[in-house]
Amino acid sequence: MVEALAPHNVRAVSRRDGVDAFTGAGLQQSFAGADVVIDLFTRFTFSSRRARAIHQTEAENVSSAAQQAGVRHVVVLSIIGVDRNPHNYYAGKLQQEQVYEASGVPLTILRAAQFHEFAAQVLDRTSLGPVGLTFQARIQPVAVQEVGRRLAAIATGPPQGRAADLARPQPESLAEMMRRYAAADCSFPPPCRSRSSAACGPD
Ligand SMILES: NC(=O)c1ccc[n+]([C@@H]2O[C@H](COP(=O)([O-])OP(=O)(O)OC[C@H]3O[C@@H](n4cnc5c(N)ncnc54)[C@H](OP(=O)(O)O)[C@@H]3O)[C@@H](O)[C@H]2O)c1
Repeated sequence: MVEALAPHNVRAVSRRDGVDAFTGAGLQQSFAGADVVIDLFTRFTFSSRRARAIHQTEAENVSSAAQQAGVRHVVVLSIIGVDRNPHNYYAGKLQQEQVYEASGVPLTILRAAQFHEFAAQVLDRTSLGPVGLTFQARIQPVAVQEVGRRLAAIATGPPQGRAADLARPQPESLAEMMRRYAAADCSFPPPCRSRSSAACGPD
């Protein structure tokens, strides 16, 4: 996304830069003079209650700081299906959308499908010692670069409320994607099989 916005002056910030969307620290300073804010802040949790609390507070802090800085457009990346399945982490993403919609900021929400990297992210979050868990789901994964290009195009245009959803046409099994990732990367335990007993990586 930063590459796609190259002619523009782009600054990416997170907690490692001293900017914390949850406490609000550093938001005012980093938004000063900005035309557009793109909210990609997130923290994963399986708890619906915690996901709602995190995303509500962060969306309130970011939208309020953006309003005070006179930002002309706030772009938020969400996930396809958060309203059809408002549980666990998705409960927080739906809450985030609702806080932004009620905030009055000039807004575009883009819902994208899961990234190709999602299988590795889930494995990372669910691996317990030698055991990795797979999840049954049909997703239409999209390249993160494509999401970045779409976000850049939206950011340079006017606020549109909700943008058209972004997904690839090819449905994939998340469980199968996770198995393929685990087989290709020995740092992950093979899902539902002992780490030591399964072949891992290329032949
Ligand atoms: N992954 C997917 O398949 C997918 C699909 C569709 C949409 N999305 C959305 O895309 C966005 C990015 O997701 P991702 O998977 O790329 O997540 P990620 O890799 O976990 O990145 C999240 C970023 O947020 C920062 N962050 C977390 N808490 C923060 C806080 N309180 N203040 C400031 N920065 C904070 C983290 O950096 P620090 O740790 O340095 O703070 C990190 O750079 C999210 O909104 C997610 O819902 C993801």
